Amino acid sequence: MSISISLTVNGKSYTIEAPPMKRLLDVLRQDLHLTGTKEGCGEGECGACSVIADGQLINSCLAPICQFDGAVILTVEGLAQHDQLHPLQQAFWQAGATQCGICTPGMLLAAKALLDQEPHPSHDQIKQFIAGNLCRCTGYTKIVEAIEWAARLGDGRPETSNTKAGHGGG
Ligand code: FES
Ligand code: FES
Repeated sequence: MSISISLTVNGKSYTIEAPPMKRLLDVLRQDLHLTGTKEGCGEGECGACSVIADGQLINSCLAPICQFDGAVILTVEGLAQHDQLHPLQQAFWQAGATQCGICTPGMLLAAKALLDQEPHPSHDQIKQFIAGNLCRCTGYTKIVEAIEWAARLGDGRPETSNTKAGHGGG
């Protein structure tokens, strides 16, 4: 049995027919062809599938689509605006906070959810908030640095002369 679900993803409206227990992760990747959201564990443990739904960071691998009729979803594809990277994307790139990149979309969404709640988080707050997002490559130091830098930049504001990253990726 399929049901009709209407939702808004990255500012665009969609109506899809899907089995009610189909995972939001699969709807995003298979029905909407938004493959930026990744599957790591598929069990709610790694955060690779993180998206923001109605303002809350969720694991889309655990989320049945029937819960999302009328929801507003943000995925990694919705971060950049008008071909301009989001400050978090810019910071991850400049800080060298990505390696294989599997965790990166979920990590970016977790960081966005944090900065939406707390625009100026402490180092420890960042570490605690992203604790549910696992990365096998980076050791987390550069990820935390990138989030700190993006917080200094401010959400969506252009880089100014006294807020340069200075990480150089090394
Ligand atoms: S794939 Fe969803 S938490 Fe790991
Ligand atoms: S960059 Fe490879 S898992 Fe994080």
